[in-house]
Amino acid sequence: MILTNHYYTMIHLVLICLCIESFSSLAADTISGNQTLSGNQTVVSSGGKFELGFFTPGASSKYYIGIWYKKVRNETVVWVANRETPILDSNSAQLKILDGNLVLLNESRAIIWSTDLNSTSSSKSSVVAVLGDDGNLVLRDGSGSNSTSVEPLWESFDNPSDTWLPGGRLAYDKRTGKKQRLISWKNTEDPAPGLFSLELDPKRKQYIIKWNKREQYWKSGAWNEHIFSDVPEMRLNYIYNFTYIDTANESYFTYSLYNPSDISRFIMDVSGQIKQLSWVSTDWILFWSQPRQQCGVYAYCGAFGSCNQNSLPFCNCLPGFKHKSESDWVLKDYSGGCVREIDLQCENNRSRSSYGREDKFLMQPYMSLPLHPQSVAVGSIGECKSSCLRNCSCTAYAYDENSCSLWNGELLNLQQLAQGDGNGRTIYIRLSASSSVFSGGKNNRGAVIGASLGSAVAVLALLAIVMAVMWRRRGKSVGSSNGVEGSLVAFGYKDLQNATKNFLDKLGEGGFGSVFRGTLPDSSAIAVKKLESIGQGEKQFRTEVSTIGTIQHMNLVRLRGFCSEGNKKLLVYDYMDKGSLASHLFHANELKVLEWKMRYEIALGIARGLLYLHEKCRDCIIHCDIKPENILLDSEFCPKVADFGLAKLVGRDFSRVLTTMRGTRGYLAPEWILGVAITAKADVYSYGMMLFELISGRRNSENSEEGRVKYFPSLAARVTVDGGDILGLLDAALDRNADVEEVLKICKVACWCIQDEEDIRPSMGQVVQILEGLMDVNTPPIPRSLQLFVESQERIVFFTDSTSASQSSQTKSNNSSTSSRSNSRTATSPTD
Ligand SMILES: *[C@@H]1O[C@H](CO)[C@@H](O)[C@H](O)[C@H]1NC(C)=O
Ligand SMILES: *[C@@H]1O[C@H](CO)[C@@H](O)[C@H](O)[C@H]1NC(C)=O
Ligand SMILES: *[C@@H]1O[C@H](CO)[C@@H](O)[C@H](O)[C@H]1NC(C)=O
Ligand SMILES: *[C@@H]1O[C@H](CO)[C@@H](O)[C@H](O)[C@H]1NC(C)=O
Ligand SMILES: *[C@@H]1O[C@H](CO)[C@@H](O)[C@H](O)[C@H]1NC(C)=O
Ligand SMILES: *[C@@H]1O[C@H](CO)[C@@H](O)[C@H](O)[C@H]1NC(C)=O
Ligand SMILES: *[C@@H]1O[C@H](CO)[C@@H](O)[C@H](O)[C@H]1NC(C)=O
Ligand SMILES: *[C@@H]1O[C@H](CO)[C@@H](O)[C@H](O)[C@H]1NC(C)=O
Ligand SMILES: *[C@@H]1O[C@H](CO)[C@@H](O)[C@H](O)[C@H]1NC(C)=O
Ligand SMILES: *[C@@H]1O[C@H](CO)[C@@H](O)[C@H](O)[C@H]1NC(C)=O
Repeated sequence: MILTNHYYTMIHLVLICLCIESFSSLAADTISGNQTLSGNQTVVSSGGKFELGFFTPGASSKYYIGIWYKKVRNETVVWVANRETPILDSNSAQLKILDGNLVLLNESRAIIWSTDLNSTSSSKSSVVAVLGDDGNLVLRDGSGSNSTSVEPLWESFDNPSDTWLPGGRLAYDKRTGKKQRLISWKNTEDPAPGLFSLELDPKRKQYIIKWNKREQYWKSGAWNEHIFSDVPEMRLNYIYNFTYIDTANESYFTYSLYNPSDISRFIMDVSGQIKQLSWVSTDWILFWSQPRQQCGVYAYCGAFGSCNQNSLPFCNCLPGFKHKSESDWVLKDYSGGCVREIDLQCENNRSRSSYGREDKFLMQPYMSLPLHPQSVAVGSIGECKSSCLRNCSCTAYAYDENSCSLWNGELLNLQQLAQGDGNGRTIYIRLSASSSVFSGGKNNRGAVIGASLGSAVAVLALLAIVMAVMWRRRGKSVGSSNGVEGSLVAFGYKDLQNATKNFLDKLGEGGFGSVFRGTLPDSSAIAVKKLESIGQGEKQFRTEVSTIGTIQHMNLVRLRGFCSEGNKKLLVYDYMDKGSLASHLFHANELKVLEWKMRYEIALGIARGLLYLHEKCRDCIIHCDIKPENILLDSEFCPKVADFGLAKLVGRDFSRVLTTMRGTRGYLAPEWILGVAITAKADVYSYGMMLFELISGRRNSENSEEGRVKYFPSLAARVTVDGGDILGLLDAALDRNADVEEVLKICKVACWCIQDEEDIRPSMGQVVQILEGLMDVNTPPIPRSLQLFVESQERIVFFTDSTSASQSSQTKSNNSSTSSRSNSRTATSPTD
C-alpha cells in the first residue's frame, strides 16, 4: 500500500517535470543560450532563497544587476554585477550569454559588464549561468548531461561585492598573488566600490580592513583553529563555523551556519566596519561589528573632517571648513570630507604681496593626530610654527615635548577626543587670516566659538572653586573619621585599618577587589572593599562614589562611605550577617537550607532592587555583574544587591570586563561578548541565569556525574516549554517541597530573561509584576543558544570555565589585577 503511494507520487513528480520541460526549455534558476533577462524579469534559485535581476538601490533611479534574498522583505542585495556602470532603462538592457561569457548590454547594445573569460572556442554555445540556493551565480559549460559535476568557469563567490555569504570565501591566490576583497559600497545608494575593503593576510592567517587599499586600521588577529586572536568574543559564537583552507594554489577562510535555516551574512559596510547581521523575524539584527567605535575607522570623516565618538553626527568639518559635497554627506558618505571656506593666503598670488596678511593657525586641543607627520628638529613652538608657515603645502603642525610635527596636504583621520582623555594632543590648523573663525562675533560660527569659549572659562572658574573646597574638606577629613560628604562618610585610611584590624578578616574577593570585615568605634559592623586598579582621577572617583551613595533601596546594599588617599581607594558598606546567596546555594551543607518560599521572596527582592537601579535612579545604572556572589542576605534573609555602579567606576573597557568577569561567564548576556551596546537587558539575562541556580541549588555550569556537561538551563527550559516534572528540577535539599505553580512561574520568567534577543526579554519592572502576581506570564520559546547547546554539547563551551577561557584571561590580566586566583593556579602547577 505504502509502496504504491510512493510510486504514484514519483510518477506525479516525473509528469510535472516533463510538463515544465515542454513549456519552457529553461529552468527558472538558469540563463542559457538564447535567453535574455531585461526589465522586471528575474531568475530564482531552485530552493527559492535568492533572486537575480535588475534593481535600483534606495531612491536612486539607476539600474544594476544584482542578487538579493527572495524571502527577506527588505530588499537586501548581496552581489552587484555592474557596480560602476549603471544603466538608466532596464527594459532595453539585456543580461545574456555571449561568446561563452555572461554579459550586460546597455540600451545601445554595448557591453558594459562581462565575466571577462577567455573562452575556449569548443563550448561557447553551451555555457549556462545558474543561480544557486547559496546565492552563488555560477557560469559553467552545460553541454554535458551531468552539468552539476562540471567545473565552474566563473563564480560570483570568487568576485564578491560587499557581502560574504555562508559558503563564500575571500581567498589569496598563491599563483598570481591576487586577493579577493569585500569592498564597501560608496554610499547607501551607490554600489560603486567605496574606500573600505576586507582582505586576507595569508602570512598571519588573519583578515584585515584597509582604507583606500593602503592604510590598515583593523585586524582580526591570527587564526588559532578556533578563533581569531583579537576577536575573543568568537569563542562564544554559536552561529558561524569558520574553516581555514590551505591548498597548493590558494588559501582562504570559509564559513557555514550551524543552523542552515538561519539567514545571516557578513558585510563590509559603508561605515567602514565589518558587520555580522542576522535576519530575525522582521528585520536585520546587528550581532557584531568591528572596529567597535565608528571613529576607529580610518579617515571616516574624510579630509579636514573630524570624528567625535561622543556626539552625533560623528563627523564634522574642522572650523573654517565646509562639506565638500552636501549630497554625499546627506547619504552618510563622508569620504569626500571638507574643503576650505576661504583659500589660504599663500595659495593666492595677489594676497601674498599684500603686507601682513599671512595665514594663521587655529588651535585644536584634545585631538588624536593624523598619521605620518614630518618631523622637524627645532627648538621651540615658534620655530615649529614658522617652519610650517614657510611652505604653502604645510597645513598643520603640532609641538610636543620638543618635537615638531608638520603635515602636508589633506589632513586625514583627525579625531576629537574627550577632555579627560590622556591621548589628546593639540594641533594647529592652518587657515586663511581672513577666515571667519578669527573674527569672533562676525558670524554665527564665530559667535558659537565665542560662546563656548566663554562657557568654558566659566566652567573652569567653577571647577577651581569646587576643587578648592574639596581640598579644604579633604585636608580636614584626613585623620578624623567624620568628614561628611553628602550622606557619605569620608574615612581616613588609618581609621579603616583600625576598624578591620589591618585587613585581617577577608570576606571574599570580587572582580573589583577584596572585601574585609570591620567594626566601627560605634560597634556597627562594616564591610570594607579595597578597590584594585582604579584608573580614574580623584575628582571623577568622588563624583561616582557620591552618585552611588545617593542610591538607597531596601534591596540594595547601602554604601556608608569611602576612603580616597592617593592610590588607596576603599568603599565602606553595611555588613550583611548572612553572607552571600552563593554561599547558601552552593555550600548548603554547613548552612540552613533556603526554603522555597524564601527563595521566591529572594527572587522578588532582587528583581525589585534591579528595577530600582534600572528605572528609578536619576541615571539608569546597569549592574553588569549579577551573580549569586553579589547578592547579600541580611539577618532577615532580605536580599540586597551589592557591587552596583562599580563597572562605571572602573571603566567599561571591553577587555577589562572580560578580565574582571572571568569567573562569571555563565551569567554574561550574549551582547557583552558580541560587542554591541549594553543595555539594562544584560542584567535581565544574568538575573535569569541566577534564577535557574536558585531553583536547582547548583551552578548552571557544574559538571554532572558522568563527566559530561549537563546544562541545567537547557533541561529546565525543555521541561518548562514541553511539560514534564517541574518539581523534579528543584534542589534535592528541598525534597520537592514547593508550590508547583510558583516553580513553573519562576522557570518561565528565567527562560524569558535569557532569550538571545534583548528585545523579547522582559524588563525588571515586568518581572516584578509577574512575581507579585499582577501580571501573567506566557510559555516562553526555548532560547536559540540553548537549543544549540543541546544539539552539539561538546562543541559549544561558552558557559563553562573552559581551560582556554581561563588561559586567555590569564594572559589578559595585567600586573595590577593579580589575584589570589591566578596565584593559586600557578601554585597548583609547579611544573610550569
Ligand atoms: C538559439 O540560437 C541559435 C544560434 O545562436 C539558433 O540556431 C537557435 O535556433 C536558437 N534557438 C532558439 C530556441 O531560439
Ligand atoms: C513587468 O513589466 C511589465 C511591463 O513593463 C508590466 O506590465 C508587468 O506588470 C511587470 N510585472 C511585475 C510583476 O511587476
Ligand atoms: C526593514 O523594513 C522595516 C519595515 O519596512 C523597516 O522598519 C526597517 O527599518 C527596514 N530595515 C532596514 C535595514 O532597512
Ligand atoms: C552604452 O555604452 C557605451 C559604451 O560604454 C556608451 O558609449 C553608450 O553611450 C551607452 N549607451 C547608453 C544609451 O547609455
Ligand atoms: C585573455 O587572453 C589575453 C590574450 O589572449 C590575455 O592577455 C589575458 O590575460 C587573458 N585573460 C585571462 C583572464 O586569462
Ligand atoms: C552526476 O554527478 C553526480 C555528482 O557529481 C554523480 O553522483 C552522478 O553519478 C553523476 N551522474 C551521471 C549520469 O554522470
Ligand atoms: C564545520 O565545518 C567543517 C568544514 O566544513 C565541517 O567538517 C564540520 O562538520 C562543521 N561543524 C559543524 C558542527 O557543523
Ligand atoms: C593548482 O593549479 C594547477 C594549475 O593551475 C592545477 O592543475 C591544480 O589542479 C591546482 N590544484 C588544486 C589543488 O586546485
Ligand atoms: C600664481 O602664480 C603662478 C606663477 O607664479 C601662476 O602659475 C598661477 O596661475 C598664479 N595663480 C593665481 C591664482 O593667480
Ligand atoms: C614643501 O613641502 C613639500 C612636502 O614636504 C615639498 O615637496 C616641497 O618641496 C616643499 N616646498 C618648499 C618650497 O620647501
